[in-house]
Order: sequence, then C-alpha cells, then structure tokens
Amino acid sequence: MWKTEKMTSLLCITMISLALAGSAYGQPTNLPIRPTVMVLGVLGENVTLPCLLLSEHAKDAIAHTGVRVKWTKVEEDEALNEDVLLSMGFHKKTYGSFADRVFMNAADNEDATLTITDVSLADAGKYRCEVINGMVDILEEVILDVQSILTEGVVFPYSPSVGRYNLNFANATQACLEQNASVASLEQLHEAWKGGLDWCNAGWLSDGTVYYPVTKARGPCGGNKGPGLISYGLQNKQMGRYDVFCFASALKGSFYWLVQPDRLTFDEAVQACVDDGAEIAKVGHMYSAWKLEGFDRCDAGWLADGSVRYPISRPRKNCSPTEAAVRFGGFPDKMEKSNGVYCFKDE
Ligand SMILES: *[C@@H]1O[C@H](CO)[C@@H](O)[C@H](O)[C@H]1NC(C)=O
Ligand SMILES: *[C@@H]1O[C@H](CO)[C@@H](O)[C@H](O)[C@H]1NC(C)=O
Ligand SMILES: *[C@@H]1O[C@H](CO)[C@@H](O)[C@H](O)[C@H]1NC(C)=O
Repeated sequence: MWKTEKMTSLLCITMISLALAGSAYGQPTNLPIRPTVMVLGVLGENVTLPCLLLSEHAKDAIAHTGVRVKWTKVEEDEALNEDVLLSMGFHKKTYGSFADRVFMNAADNEDATLTITDVSLADAGKYRCEVINGMVDILEEVILDVQSILTEGVVFPYSPSVGRYNLNFANATQACLEQNASVASLEQLHEAWKGGLDWCNAGWLSDGTVYYPVTKARGPCGGNKGPGLISYGLQNKQMGRYDVFCFASALKGSFYWLVQPDRLTFDEAVQACVDDGAEIAKVGHMYSAWKLEGFDRCDAGWLADGSVRYPISRPRKNCSPTEAAVRFGGFPDKMEKSNGVYCFKDE
C-alpha cells in the first residue's frame, strides 16, 4: 500500500521537475526522465534494474568518455543514501554491501542497466540511476521489491513411528532430512498458516522455537487465544521433545503410484520401486507432489519412513471428503501385505 503512495508521489516529483526543467531552458523538453519503475526480485537470484538511455542526447552522452553513471540506493533520509556503483568510462567502482555483487550490463552505449546478483531481503528499496555529463543529466528511479520463494514449497507436520512428541531438535532436523525436506522457518510456517494449515501438535522450527498453527480455534487448540501461530517460544534443543514442521520444495523428478497386481509388504514395496528404476517415495515428495502439482490418488501406499499415506487434492466421498489433504494411515506392520507403494524417480 505504502509503495503505491510512494510511487504516486515520485511520479509527481518527476512531473514537477520536468516542468521546471522545461521552463528553465525555455523550450519544450524531452528529457529522458521517466516515471518510477517497479521491479520484483527473488531472494538469492539475480535482478536487473533498468536504466535505458533512449534519447539521442543520452546516447551521445554515454558514448562520450567522462560520462558518469552513478547508482545510489535511496533512503527516506537522503543523508543515509548508500552508494552502489560508480562508472566513468572503463573505471567502475562498487561500494559497501554491493561490492563485487553488482555490475552494469553495458551491452551497448545506451544502457546503464544494473544487475544485482544474489539478491537479499535487505536489497529491497529505492534505487536511483544518474547519468551525468554536464549537459544532459538523466535521472531514473527504480523500486526493488524482493520476495522469497515461499510459494515454491510446502510445510508439513511430521512425527515419527514412535509417536508424537519424541523429537529433540537434532532428531527433528534428521527427521525432515530423511523426508527430503528441511526444518521449516517461522516465515514458512506463517505462509502455510495463511494458506490454511491447521495442526494441533507443537513442532520445532529452524530457529529452535516451537509453534503450532491454528486456523480454526477450538478447545485446547487455541480455544482461548483464537486463530494464529501459537508459540511455546524458544525451547531446550537437547531436552525438548516435540514434533517438527518440515519444508519440502518443488520436486526435481517424478512422483508416482506404482501399478502392482497385489498388495505389498514394506520390503516388497521398497524393492518394487527399485525394480522400476526408482526409489520408494519420501513423505516430502508426496507433500510436494500434492501441494505443488495437484497430485491426487485415493490409494494408500507405503512411503520410505514405513508410514502409509495418500494424497487427495480433489476432496470426495471416501477419500478425504471435506478437505484437500495428505491422509495418514499410520505405521502398519511392515510384514503385512497391506498396501501399494508410491515411488520417486530423480530427474
Ligand atoms: C547471476 O549473474 C552472474 C554473473 O553474470 C552469473 O554468473 C550467475 O550465474 C547468475 N545467477 C543466476 C541465478 O542467474
Ligand atoms: C534422537 O536422537 C538420539 C541420538 O542420536 C537417538 O538415540 C534417538 O533414537 C533419536 N530419537 C528419535 C525419535 O529419532
Ligand atoms: C531433495 O532431493 C533432491 C534430489 O532429488 C535434492 O536435490 C534436494 O536437495 C533434496 N532436498 C532436501 C531438503 O533434502
């Protein structure tokens, strides 16, 4: 919201300076000042802030040696502005947290576009591109917003076969890893909660705190607190025993139900996937396929941890009638020919 307001006010400033410049030179101006541009970057990736110099004046200007291009990160209080990059002909200098992390694309002489590599959340904000040669000064402002790729993953609660509240922090880390996942961050749990995750058992998060997410407050599950992320705070990593919230990202391979004539024991299930050139799927694979690929199958199948589950994304009678969910069928006796199997094949 504030960004929209900012943009509007920037636009006004731009218009005003255009008008002033016009009157100062006593002629209609086509100074290459354009409205603020908004750019969306993804955490950890590269992002490009445009500063194209399209006017004839500008082309001459930047082709001319001695032209300076200056990129600045602009703060609310201009006194706190941060230098990003200074370019004078062949000489380039980068500053502070931007040192060796930014470069000008300079594909041709019309381009002062800046690339920031390995974007961090702290990089978000307003940037100013100035091209200065004494005759034509070009000013362009770009607002950079940075998002993490939270949507490209899924948070799921996990408890081991020995039952709930059995994991200290090291166990929890190991448990997620074994499901091809990592321990979720508070930010990830928060996103999942906003997406409807409701779970009444407390679990570890990556910073050593313990939470549970409640979207429908009831009885002991946030009954007197209302919906939200309910916190047990920082817990003792050795002594504390909880479940865990794991985070699995998008699959780099295929998750599938292995068509088999008969039900299988656990060992047969493991072998059947191997015989198919794959491995028995992990819990994280199933959640990822379910949440991010809409995988839906109403057949209970073995997974690598010895549990039996099935993923439903189209709720229907006899298959998770009220909600899309990964259904849990417990940790059955591994010797019984009780279930089918889900496999995972790496790309
Ligand atoms: C970011 O840019 C650098 C330098 O051009 C390049 O080496 C790197 O592969 C790029 N990273 C991504 C994620 O595109
Ligand atoms: C937790 O870790 C300890 C030490 O590595 C191990 O002995 C124990 O079996 C683990 N518990 C669970 C439930 O994984
Ligand atoms: C999950 O497995 C893939 C390979 O299939 C691997 O690239 C990825 O790092 C694993 N993720 C986690 C969190 O273990």
